[in-house]
Amino acid sequence: MRLALLTLLALAAPGRAADKPVSFINDVAPVLKENCLACHDAKKRNGKYDMTTFEKLLLGGTNGEAIVPGKPEESDFHDLIVTAEERRMPPRDKGEEVPADKAKVVAEWIKQGAKLDAGLDPKADLVRELRLRWVPPTPPATYRFPAIVNALAFTPDGKSLVVGGHHELTVWSVPAGVLTKRVRTRAERAYALAFLPGGTLAVAGGRPGQEGDVRLYDLTAAGPTVNGVAMLDGVGDPKVVLKQLLDADDSVLCLAVSPDGKTLAAGGCDRAVRLWDMSAGPAAAKLTQTIENHADWVLGVALSADGKYLATAARDKTAKVWDLKAKESVLTYPEHQNVVYAVAFNKDASLGYSAGGDSQLRTWKLAGEGKGVKAFGGHGGDVFKVVLHPTKPVAATASADKTVRLWDTDKAAALQTLTGPSDFVYAVAFSPDGGLVAGGTYNGEVTLWKHPGDGKPLKTFNATPGYTAAAK
Ligand code: HEC
Repeated sequence: MRLALLTLLALAAPGRAADKPVSFINDVAPVLKENCLACHDAKKRNGKYDMTTFEKLLLGGTNGEAIVPGKPEESDFHDLIVTAEERRMPPRDKGEEVPADKAKVVAEWIKQGAKLDAGLDPKADLVRELRLRWVPPTPPATYRFPAIVNALAFTPDGKSLVVGGHHELTVWSVPAGVLTKRVRTRAERAYALAFLPGGTLAVAGGRPGQEGDVRLYDLTAAGPTVNGVAMLDGVGDPKVVLKQLLDADDSVLCLAVSPDGKTLAAGGCDRAVRLWDMSAGPAAAKLTQTIENHADWVLGVALSADGKYLATAARDKTAKVWDLKAKESVLTYPEHQNVVYAVAFNKDASLGYSAGGDSQLRTWKLAGEGKGVKAFGGHGGDVFKVVLHPTKPVAATASADKTVRLWDTDKAAALQTLTGPSDFVYAVAFSPDGGLVAGGTYNGEVTLWKHPGDGKPLKTFNATPGYTAAAK
């Protein structure tokens, strides 16, 4: 009787809460990711200590095991986090100290035996495991802040415009600008959109610094309707999200489909460009090549109509051309001397176009030395995108100077400035018949212009559901 009472008291005592088992993956791994992995990943391995898997974490570095199960005070791993001495982790001059509550979680986990959660493979990549456990938020019915428009694409029938929003894609009728569909996505941002020949939409996107993806969607799938807007679940409904082509550790920033629809290319923060063979349809997409040809983020990709060449634009201040068959670099174009955001090819791939932080649209010859053929003249700010008209020798560029400009690609000359946007224009697209141009801005605005036309907006709307600038 007395014994039972004592046990009950002990159970009720406040100290018990600390003995609650600490989960390695849910409680400790996030601390590693936040505070340690920048220097202790598989590439950097500072102190020869790689913390990317549980197994490696227990193995330790130069000085051997840094974790002594059951004994936080004998574990360098914990000691170096809480120490008052000069040698601390992260190193004092390199990073903030680990918050005290997080350090306590680490101590408690070691005290409890430094165990791995049941069912988790000790060889599993921890960053990937954390990513798998992350649940994307559901977009609100109405927004209080505008969502950046990083990407736009007209649907193949030309009747709608797909806009990359915040954890969703939104679909608007054109030119009316009425919201018809919202497609929830895992990616926080869609950086590039392209339709495949059968009508499947390929989307490159991600969550900055956390994850990146390339996914294929069927926007014609059915979904419940709320106030006349179809709500599609692009996170969990396999009829909407058909396939995931890529799961990356950081954002995928650009994407292109070859004119024949057989090849898809995507590139991003991991500096690589990947190519998929799409000729057997979306379900049978096959990764065929991974190209690492840039020293920094790949920001733009284009495929030539004959399927021979890949052009890339990068933060390393170059545009490059890659021969897909020979699997070799054929050209590096350094003229921008600044970040290159976008690239395109003309019809017969005799010319390439690139645009970037030097405010210029430039054209260069594919054969020969790759000398700058001509700069088209400038925008008043960074040029983020360049797209070609579907039939005419006309290019459109989107710029930080709040305009979209049209260029005669045969004469390498300015044609027209399309005005109206009230912020940086990040995205631009031509409709399938070339009769409309759409631009999307940092503050969520979409502007439509007729082409050819007078350069004044045909229609402007904010593509952030429920957001009105006046409601701020
Ligand atoms: C800014 C880079 C950086 C960060 C962030 C960082 N470390 Fe280190 N770490 C180093 C360097 C450099 C060394 C090797 C020099 C040394 O041991 O002092 C090292 C060594 C260590 C060692 C000793 C390994 C051995 O066997 O010699 C441990 C343990 C360690 N780090 C733990 C951590 C923990 C835990 C975190 C996160 C809370 C962390 N580090 C974050 C740079 C970093």
